[in-house]
Amino acid sequence: MTAAIMASIQLVRHEDYRAPDYEIVATALEFWLDADTTEVLAELRLRCRLPEPPEYLIFQGESLDLLELRLDGQVVGADRYDLLDEGLRLHHPPQAFTLNSRVRVHPATNTQLSGLYAADGVLLTQCEAEGFRRITYYLDRPDCLAPFTVTLHADREHYPMLLANGNLEATGTDGQGGHWARWHDPFPKPSYLFALVAGRFVVERDHFTTQSGRSVALEVYVAERYRDACQRALDSLKRAMAWDERVYGREYDLERYMIVATDSFNMGAMENKGLNIFNTKYVLASPETATDDDYLHVESVIAHEYFHNWTGNRVTLRDWFQLSLKEGLTVFRDQEFSADQNSRGVQRIADVRRLRAAQFPEDAGPLAHPVRPDAYAEINNFYTATVYEKGAEIVRMIHTTLGPERFRAGMDAYFSRFDGQAVTIEDFLSALEAGSGCDLQAFMRWYAQAGTPRVEAKWQQDLETGSLSLELSQRTPATPGQADKTTLPIPVRVALLDRAGRRQPLRVGNDDLGTETVLMLTQPQQDWTFTGLHEPCVPSLFRGFSAPIILERSDAVLAEPFLARHDDDPFSRWENFQALAIRELLGYIAEPTRALPSGDLREAVAAVTSQWPEDPAFCAELLTLPTEDYLGEQMEIIQVDAIHAARESLRRALAMVFGDTFMAWYQGLAGTYQLDGLSMGRRRLRQVMLSYLLVNDRLRWEAIALARLQYAEADNMSERLAAYTLLVQDIHHDSEDLLMDFYQTWRHHPLVLDRWFSTQLGREEPATLHRAANLLVHPDFDWRVPNRVRSVLGAFAANPTVFHAADGSGYRFFGEQIRHLDGINPQTAARLATVLSRWPRLDAQRRGHMQGVIAELARKPALSRDLAEVLSRCQD
Ligand code: ARG
Ligand code: ZN
Repeated sequence: MTAAIMASIQLVRHEDYRAPDYEIVATALEFWLDADTTEVLAELRLRCRLPEPPEYLIFQGESLDLLELRLDGQVVGADRYDLLDEGLRLHHPPQAFTLNSRVRVHPATNTQLSGLYAADGVLLTQCEAEGFRRITYYLDRPDCLAPFTVTLHADREHYPMLLANGNLEATGTDGQGGHWARWHDPFPKPSYLFALVAGRFVVERDHFTTQSGRSVALEVYVAERYRDACQRALDSLKRAMAWDERVYGREYDLERYMIVATDSFNMGAMENKGLNIFNTKYVLASPETATDDDYLHVESVIAHEYFHNWTGNRVTLRDWFQLSLKEGLTVFRDQEFSADQNSRGVQRIADVRRLRAAQFPEDAGPLAHPVRPDAYAEINNFYTATVYEKGAEIVRMIHTTLGPERFRAGMDAYFSRFDGQAVTIEDFLSALEAGSGCDLQAFMRWYAQAGTPRVEAKWQQDLETGSLSLELSQRTPATPGQADKTTLPIPVRVALLDRAGRRQPLRVGNDDLGTETVLMLTQPQQDWTFTGLHEPCVPSLFRGFSAPIILERSDAVLAEPFLARHDDDPFSRWENFQALAIRELLGYIAEPTRALPSGDLREAVAAVTSQWPEDPAFCAELLTLPTEDYLGEQMEIIQVDAIHAARESLRRALAMVFGDTFMAWYQGLAGTYQLDGLSMGRRRLRQVMLSYLLVNDRLRWEAIALARLQYAEADNMSERLAAYTLLVQDIHHDSEDLLMDFYQTWRHHPLVLDRWFSTQLGREEPATLHRAANLLVHPDFDWRVPNRVRSVLGAFAANPTVFHAADGSGYRFFGEQIRHLDGINPQTAARLATVLSRWPRLDAQRRGHMQGVIAELARKPALSRDLAEVLSRCQD
């Protein structure tokens, strides 16, 4: 059956890349916008790049009704072209010509949300990766750049605002209530960066003065009901603009920068030139509706899309295999921006948590692929944690290797060499090499090789001679289609700590390396000998998580408790603290009669709780136990039930031992609502405290009362939702009244209502399956709105007890919904379906059930290419 699905899937291969035969010198588009039927007139000026024109030229097109086709003004006869599944084939194209096409598209029935679609009375577009071909016939590929002129006509009453990329050139009226606007984008761009928006909005405005003194108009377009929730986005945008000037010397290039928010969006946001389109989730923030995490996400996504203006737009991609060239690099840039705005240590912990939650499992299962994949059927399936987050880690390793100054010199070279071009990852590395003077070729292997490397560390100290030898070795396990792995360059940031946690001078041979340095592990195995160390030392390795690897240290039992208390690198301290918890939990799973919490973890927690938390955000990270998913990753076969039971037992045990401190902190950390990092950290830690208090038998009733009070009286969504979530997800507590209250209060606010849907699906009890089924027929459920779909199906799949029910009922239910969703929104269906790749690590019974669901889905008639590809790869 794999063969059957695969046979129907056409793969695009990296090695088959060919430069386009034609360039598009200029693109002019004219739209007569209407939700039911929109007419698009395209005028493309084409020029052949070869000495002789080819036999034919294919313009991509999908779901287009062709009305008229003209070549240099003449109607093209039916014998001169064919309509194919994938577009239009024009025979005997001249060396240079103008092609005019007139097509119809139907935004209101476009439920895929790719191309031009209607949502909430607004018309808008999403073209990355290949949505533009659903708007007009085109050379829809990223290496085909053109300046665009776009004229929009629409009814003034329904669509008072008409937006497209670039600068507004002219506006006017069309008889009987119509109007038009013409936009010109002087920066040549590929079609995936095209956007238009038509609708009624309120606009929140600001401006930014660039380093060279130009004033840029900043505009955020939102529905009337979101009027007061744009300040965070505007502030973040201004800070991102200033940061890119300061850190990279990059200035914005158009007169205005527009951001439009929509509730109906497949992904997070899109960096269309000068006209970003955002999921409302990453734009809106007000204290009453957004949590602290939401505020942080808005800041980072606004920055991410802004940074794309240089890394993605001014320098774009040659082909989709290079996706990480813009995404990995831009994620690295937004992570660094957030680290500079907030706490660097806590930011790094959050980034690594996310990498481990999403990318490590991907890299360890059937969907594993290199950061630069070799082939795809549907490119939308490759907007993955590997391309984004692991891609960012590669750039970070290069940054660590070069140091900030040489990295900056390399980036300067990248921008000056390739501005206005569509390039490859090789081009990126060669520019970094030219600018920095360093050889980076070995890093190409990180882009080509899938799988998470394991690094093993051994060391030995001789107090007599004062020498400490460190031995590191690496290996990467096989992944689908890549049995043999090569050696990677792995930067290892190290320090040596004495018994009091003080960093010791690092001397290797005659080199004095300060008290922290980066060693390059470039061989399967390597040794370093440090001298002059007459006091016992412990190596602190991979500080700041200097490489996306799994560390296995032979001295773990001794080093982890020490580092969990004394390491001065926040990431490393947290990492070792987590390691204690993991050890404790795995030990308990192996031997459930064990007393919890045992020595090391208990002492580490005692050390943290013995003093008032000066850095509450960091404390909250330390005291949050690893997730059930992450624990599962530590096991050969994921013991779903045992993990859940162990984690709950440990939470209870810690709550019992440290209950009084937790209560005192909960009380003492209360404060007025503010949005600075310290206040956010206090709220975060209070939430962790409350979650422990609710499982402390002695304090539980008091904790429930406190949580209910917090829910009722909070003046902000962060505290309200925290209390609400804990109570609603507490399966021993009846919170139907809260559910009702929350629904009544927030039913008209989609983003908050999403939480009403998702929170109740976090209840770890069998009845949640019925709850999910009921929510799918709730009047506020809408299959066409991806946020809402994810708030049910995504939340469902994230609930281990219910999704992984031993009888397979969770998988079957999920599979049926994916089947239905595939007919509406294949992109979102395929993305949600990736959780079905987890079967190889499940027990035999669950594995059988999950494979059964995959096989059943694969037999669906009219399976989308998106879902077919995911299923077929899941089966390998
Ligand atoms: N380029 C967008 C970003 O900033 C992602 C858009 C992806 N959309 C899609 N349909 N694949 O990350
Ligand atoms: Zn991006």
